[in-house]
Amino acid sequence: MDIYRIRGGKTLSGEVQISGAKNAALPVIVASLLARGKSTLYNVPDLQDIRTTIRIIEHIGAKTEFDAEKNLLTIDATDITNGEVPYDLVKTMRASIYVMGPLLARCCEADVSLPGGCAIGARPVDIHLSGFEKMGSTITLEHGTVKARTKGLTGATYKMPKISVGATINLLMGASLAKGETVLENCAMEPDVVDLGRFLIKMGAKIEGLGTERIIVNGVEKLNPVEYTIMPDRIEAGSYLLAGAACRGTVTVTHAVPDHIRALIDALTAMGFTLSETKDSVTVAPGRSLRGLLVTTTPFPGFPTDLQAPMMSLMATLPGISVIIETIFENRFTHVPELLRMGGDITIEGRSAIINGVPKLLSAPVMMSDLRAGAALVIAALAAEGESEIRRIYHADRGYEKLCHKLQGIGADIVREKGGM
Ligand code: EPU
Repeated sequence: MDIYRIRGGKTLSGEVQISGAKNAALPVIVASLLARGKSTLYNVPDLQDIRTTIRIIEHIGAKTEFDAEKNLLTIDATDITNGEVPYDLVKTMRASIYVMGPLLARCCEADVSLPGGCAIGARPVDIHLSGFEKMGSTITLEHGTVKARTKGLTGATYKMPKISVGATINLLMGASLAKGETVLENCAMEPDVVDLGRFLIKMGAKIEGLGTERIIVNGVEKLNPVEYTIMPDRIEAGSYLLAGAACRGTVTVTHAVPDHIRALIDALTAMGFTLSETKDSVTVAPGRSLRGLLVTTTPFPGFPTDLQAPMMSLMATLPGISVIIETIFENRFTHVPELLRMGGDITIEGRSAIINGVPKLLSAPVMMSDLRAGAALVIAALAAEGESEIRRIYHADRGYEKLCHKLQGIGADIVREKGGM
């Protein structure tokens, strides 16, 4: 397994070009299955999760071509069948449950291995399943596989008991080809959901209320294959801004959407950093007097849980006390023990982490436990004094395109090496 070797303490400076958004590309790729024919997707990031999704849709009959250098993916979904998506693929990526919407809509049946728990929490899929039941499906669980059957999805009104990005996405896909009107309430308002909705509308879907908590879908008989460009990755953009801030550098993220990371921009400003933006870029620069902050993760437009761990690494370097309250996932502090190894002063109390900033983090061998925890360790190592070795970096490969290359481009001393545990 490869490792990252990072010599910290360098001041980062320069521009990072942001890639297409993983969490928008995943549902858009799967939604291509809703139309017979060939869709062309641009700005698809070359990531492990994208490659897994491509394998999944090929498994159910799609023909794909991925030009990773050009970030160009074509998907021919003329013939798809309900080939059970095996556990080996599902267990590496929970978003595989997304195939349920298109399979039910086009084949009236879907067999998907039930995703288990994951490093950040139990993450059930009950909201996806009750939504499909409301829309006229029967669902059973047999030997670890969810089996959904329908005589044809029908429109329904469904208020999701909790805001869920994944369930909103799955039901939006199903509703687009269902008979009649579907009203989804308590929807996720994340830009990724909006990007998927725009893709569906381009395919011919009738959707109103995207980006609000109430989405109304009037089902159509068929959707058409289209060309579409995936939006920029707000979590990647946020992670590079946090890396810049932690190293007290001046870093600009380009090809980004400032409004997608407004909560982060506001938090960094409140901490005393200097932020500036254009229509598609954001720059962070050090401020005169930096201070800790209280940050609570909430659904969009609140502070994203996916930036919680990277934010904690920055907080560990700020004067004073910071607090993070994680309200989305129940077990998303696995980076804390590793940050402690690097000299961080952090205490966990239930869903809160209390971070007492230290003058300098110190290098240490550390291990990634999931994607965003991984980004947090990279940021901490960049800010720390000395040479850190980061293991299990396959987690970062799931969600950060050309991480090493992009960081080197802004002056980081980071190399990827073969070997390690
Ligand atoms: N939940 C349920 N039942 C469900 C679905 C969700 O109880 O049927 C709970 C979850 O356990 C969690 C909360 O609802 O406590 C929110 O989960 P959500 O469904 O919104 O998360 P997700 O769709 O599984 C997506 C992103 C995550 C991101 C979350 C929250 C993708 C592929 N994943 O997950 O991204 O953290 O939304 O914003 O879009 C990442 O990129 O590293 C990542 C984990």
